[in-house]
Amino acid sequence: MNPETLVLSNSDWVEELRKARKGKLIGKEILFFDRVDSTNRLGREYAFKGAEEGFVILAESQAQGKGRLGRVWESPPGVNLYISVILKPSIPPAVAPKITLLAGVACANALARASGLEARIKWPNDIFIHGKKVAGILSEMEAEGPKIRFVILGVGVNVNWEMEEVSPDLQGLATSLMAEGGRKFSRELVAGEILGELEREYELFLREGFSPRLREEWNKLSWVNQKWVTVKVMDKEFAGQVLGLDTDGALLLIDGKGKMQRLIAGDVSLRL
Ligand code: BTN
Repeated sequence: MNPETLVLSNSDWVEELRKARKGKLIGKEILFFDRVDSTNRLGREYAFKGAEEGFVILAESQAQGKGRLGRVWESPPGVNLYISVILKPSIPPAVAPKITLLAGVACANALARASGLEARIKWPNDIFIHGKKVAGILSEMEAEGPKIRFVILGVGVNVNWEMEEVSPDLQGLATSLMAEGGRKFSRELVAGEILGELEREYELFLREGFSPRLREEWNKLSWVNQKWVTVKVMDKEFAGQVLGLDTDGALLLIDGKGKMQRLIAGDVSLRL
């Protein structure tokens, strides 16, 4: 889908969100589309055309929502949030994965504030409530040599999704704020909390980097710390107990023989 062929939409909740974000960094401009292929893909297109840092793309639904590892993010209309934010940090490309870590902290805190429920981070970037996935984060970077041109930070949140509507392969694994909280939630309020927390964490990160505060906050919110897990990294598997993030943002895993592994990407499952 080309931006020229996409139809901008409007809705009261997005208008309220725009008012709330006026004058702020993240969400100073918010475009809302009825249906896109992927807000991340579209965000990339806008970023290439010169959209500023803090520009946000929202969609009512996505035809090809992108998940991690080439998966599809289910994106039905009317119930959830599909958000992409354009960021332009002056950091080396190797530091960009820290943006996913700070986004995990921001989203977990935002969802807890909006819902009153306990939200945790499942490494590297899933947000869990009551042991099920309620939100996912996908950050995609465009670099030019030693410089980041932009990062598209994508966040999908299952807000008022009826669990009967969820596809069979996600049953029991995915959840929504409504399914866990037993009531509907305002998408404006949830999106407002997310953009606000992202801005707070991002600005702190630009000043302090991956600070001890951020690392402690991440470890406090981690759903996997102390648990025995298996981590799949491409065609390898590592098993052990999670100790948490180290000072470089890698996940530390210790196996039964005391051997330590530092992991920077992978897929975690609990060992039963
Ligand atoms: C994951 O696999 O957990 C990451 C899911 C990220 C989904 C969001 S929805 C908004 C943004 N646009 C996309 O195409 N993907 C992200």
